[in-house]
Amino acid sequence: MPIVRDKKIEVLFSEEVIAKRITELAEEVALSELRNILVISVLKGSFVFAADLIRAFHRAGLAPEVEFISISSYGAGTEAGEIRLLRDIDSDVKGRDIVLIDDILESGNTMKYTRELMLSRGANRVAVITLLDKSVRRKADIEADFIGFECPDQFVVGYGMDVGHAFRELPFVGVVTGSVE
Ligand code: IMP
Ligand code: MG
Repeated sequence: MPIVRDKKIEVLFSEEVIAKRITELAEEVALSELRNILVISVLKGSFVFAADLIRAFHRAGLAPEVEFISISSYGAGTEAGEIRLLRDIDSDVKGRDIVLIDDILESGNTMKYTRELMLSRGANRVAVITLLDKSVRRKADIEADFIGFECPDQFVVGYGMDVGHAFRELPFVGVVTGSVE
């Protein structure tokens, strides 16, 4: 079991397993009806996934444009999840096919807000791609169009995802199971 920052981490999805799935996801997107894609990476958690995914898009014959948006959700796990737009994209989305990239779809509040924002600005289509789907936690009426893996109902870290700003650098997705004695 890897030990990082004096914590034991149980690996849920290894680097190799993630890489293989990302290649498959890119091929699924290439076969979809989406054209002339603008991807929007939802910061911060999705930046590692987005970086690998857009290169897999290239290998699958796609040539996406890339944008970043920063959204915060307060009390996402509670009834009253308040969503705030912290940093907007620069591009005009009117008539565009958008692919929103997120690390985890949990309550769905963040993705529902972002999807509706892009549709209200005149996007043609808005697809959602998430590395992990914690579907048992869903509250909002939204599902991802492309899913890497179903995620167990545990707090995961690594591959861009953090707990208290730590562990984003891990090349795999795992769960902190305890401290080294
Ligand atoms: P929601 O779908 O609006 O509830 O927001 C999900 C967001 O919360 C994700 O994009 C992550 O940034 C964060 N999140 C949810 N579950 C986890 C987890 O297990 N580890 C790290 N971040 C998480
Ligand atoms: Mg996120």
